Amino acid sequence: MQFQWYPGHMTKAKRQMQEDIKLIDLIIELVDARIPISSRNPDIDELGKHKSRLILMNKADLADAKRTEIWNSYFKSKGYFVVCIDARSKTGMKLIQNEIMEACKEKMERDRRRGIKNRPVRAMVVGIPNVGKSTFINTFAGKACTKTGNKPGVTKGKQWIRLNKNVELLDTPGILWPKFEDQTVGLKLALTGSIKDEILNVDELAMLFLEQVLPDYPGILTNRYEIEENKEAAVMLEEIAKKRNCRKKGDELDYSKAAALLIDEFRSGKLGRMTIELPKEWEI
Ligand code: G4P
Repeated sequence: MQFQWYPGHMTKAKRQMQEDIKLIDLIIELVDARIPISSRNPDIDELGKHKSRLILMNKADLADAKRTEIWNSYFKSKGYFVVCIDARSKTGMKLIQNEIMEACKEKMERDRRRGIKNRPVRAMVVGIPNVGKSTFINTFAGKACTKTGNKPGVTKGKQWIRLNKNVELLDTPGILWPKFEDQTVGLKLALTGSIKDEILNVDELAMLFLEQVLPDYPGILTNRYEIEENKEAAVMLEEIAKKRNCRKKGDELDYSKAAALLIDEFRSGKLGRMTIELPKEWEI
């Protein structure tokens, strides 16, 4: 499966991020809890190497809770602060505030020793498209907080959202571009809906899902569509088309419709909570 990406956008986004990172203390990086590595761009580690780091594993409501725990330990072992969230819900937001303070403890201590008091921690949200950055900023910042205008010494036009007396958030998130070199990364991004459907072949995607993801979660198709699973992918797709009455004019089975339905039900969590990658050392 071929994916297209636009180098012009990439370069501009990277340059913007390099500028914004100079203004902040903490990078809040959103990843998709169903594909915590494929939804990252490791370049952020280089871009933000002197900054405090918090990883938010978003869409945890759609991910496999056991595997989320594994990923949580994995990221912590690499030195990140981590919180698992559903960015659409306010639950967990208090925990994030606490983790922000923890992540920036050293910086605040340094400020205190230098006699700087009450300087809020400045943070920015980064992540690949569709990972939930805007949703998170809306939920986390809410309506109650005040926006602060230009500050002396700060690039003109930057808007900061004052969350409380301790934390300010840059109101525009940094956009990271996914790493496409690896085909399986592209597949996982497509499956989870991070890549626009117009550039995808949904039939191919459904086949790959049936061949590569299903073996990890046996039983999900039987539960949802009451079909047998130990068959070739094309046969299973045909069974889904029959069960869900996906048909073209003239009553012919519509495989593309069945494929789209399958992918849609995976993305929305109707097939169950699934995480489709594990840290390397956990792979069998
Ligand atoms: P972005 O700024 O990083 O590009 O992402 P954005 O917030 O626009 O979120 C992309 C999609 O992901 C949105 O769905 C949003 O509702 C959904 N989303 C964000 N966080 C979560 C989460 O924690 N759990 C789940 N299940 N979904 C989440 P959409 O289909 O584009 O819009 P809509 O369905 O909200 O209308």
